[in-house]
Parts: sequence; C-alpha cells; structure tokens
Amino acid sequence: MSIKHSINIQRLPRHIAIIMDGNGRWATSKGEDRLYGHWHGVESVRDIATGAAELGIKYITLYAFSTENWDRPAYEVNGLMELLIETIRKEVPTLNKNNIKLHVIGNVSMLPDAAKAELNEALQETSSNTGLNLIMALSYSSRWEITEAVKAIATEVKQGKLQVNDINQDTIKNYLTTKGYPDPELMIRTSGEYRISNFLLYQLAYAELYFTDTLWPDFRKEDLYKAIIDYQSRERRFGKTSEQVKKVDS
Ligand code: IPE
Ligand code: IPE
Ligand code: MG
Repeated sequence: MSIKHSINIQRLPRHIAIIMDGNGRWATSKGEDRLYGHWHGVESVRDIATGAAELGIKYITLYAFSTENWDRPAYEVNGLMELLIETIRKEVPTLNKNNIKLHVIGNVSMLPDAAKAELNEALQETSSNTGLNLIMALSYSSRWEITEAVKAIATEVKQGKLQVNDINQDTIKNYLTTKGYPDPELMIRTSGEYRISNFLLYQLAYAELYFTDTLWPDFRKEDLYKAIIDYQSRERRFGKTSEQVKKVDS
C-alpha cells in the first residue's frame, strides 16, 4: 500500500530541491556505460515531477548539471547535452498535460545552441501553466550565482541606482537567479552522499536536509513521499527554542 495517505496535505513543503545523484554508479553496477544511468534518470524526473504535481507541491528545483560537471570527460558531457536536448523535446507534452511550468536557473549561455533553442521553446510552450513550477538547475552553481549577484549589485551602486545602506537580505535575494521563488523547505540528495555540492547555498539556509542511499534512477514517487513524511516530523525552530515554536503552533 502507498504511504501517500500518511502525508499531511496541510503541511506540504512549498518548495523541494533535489540533488539527483548516483546515475553513474547505478549504471556501473549493472555493467553499463555511465550514460545509460543518465538516460534512466529521466524516468525518475518524470515520476517525481508528476508525483509532486499530483500532491499540489508548488515548486521543485532539480540539480541536473553543475558548473563543475563541465570538467567531466567530453564523452560524458556531450552525452548529457544530447540527453538534455532529447528530453526537453520529448517531455513538453507531459509537462503540459500535468499543468507544469518549466523554469531554468544557471549559466545557460554555456549550453550548446541546440539545447538553448529547445529550452527556450519549452519555456515558451509551458509558460501559461499554473500548477507545479519545475525549475531545472543547468550549468548551475551557487558560487557562480552569488558572484553574478555581487557584480550586478556593485554595478547598480556604481551607477547610483542603489544605495549601500539600502542593501538588505531581500535585495540579495532579488539578484539571485531564484528571484521570485520561495526558499526550499526541504532538500533531498540521493545516492548516499552527504554534501551540498555548490547547490543553492544561500537559499538552503534553513532547509531541512534529507539524505537517502537510493540512487537517482531508482528514486520514485514513494521515495518522495517518504522524504516529505520525514520532513513533516521535524521541528523547524529557525533559531528559536522549542517552547517558543510550540506556542506559535498551538
Ligand atoms: C548525477 O549522477 C548526474 C549528474 C551529476 C549529471 P552522477 O553522474 O554524479 O552519478 P555518480 O555520482 O557518479 O554515481
Ligand atoms: C551534484 O552531483 C550535481 C548534480 C547532481 C547535477 P555531483 O556528482 O557532481 O557532485 P559531487 O562531485 O559528488 O560532489
Ligand atoms: Mg555524482
């Protein structure tokens, strides 16, 4: 029986961020090429996106390719870019069927032209959907993002459009690529690695972290439900005491 019924629908995280890790090891353990794992990872993306949409989650950010991943062997990088182009082309009908709006964060200018073209088309074709916001982090890293934000803020100050004393935490948020999205309340990483790997460093400040040994190509809706149920058992204190938090809740 599904554990879906154990989820408290009133207390869903609005935004879940996922580091989709373990494709290579999944393939290697089967005696296959790493790319085989990446291709299978797409099935997990489809399952999790539809699962999140069915639950009524508003935002999912998926870490699909990091700035550092450009340093992998050319064979793998090229294979991943091909997969990206194929997947976007093929998945738009599924996105539309599930009322999912696609977004992208990251240094998209580094992507091959064909990928950029497919991506722009998919962004356009899903732009009027009103359900789940699916944010793909592509050629993304948090240090890249923060560096870009600092450059943009410095430029505005230099041009006299922004006063130094007016810079606050909201200003910084507005210069990040995640501008307009709420901070993730839950961050999931698959494959048994316990690290953040340059993902949403600013935005995850108070996220609940959930790690699972399941490799990404094996991750399915039930695994997502498990993570959400675990999240719902946590007490989120934001620096306060447990007593203070309980008083507000009751
Ligand atoms: C995650 O799987 C996908 C990307 C980083 C593109 P990996 O390719 O990192 O798989 P492992 O961690 O080597 O098993
Ligand atoms: C993080 O996974 C990036 C993505 C899942 C896209 P990596 O496999 O690149 O991270 P490390 O190298 O294990 O930290
Ligand atoms: Mg990895």
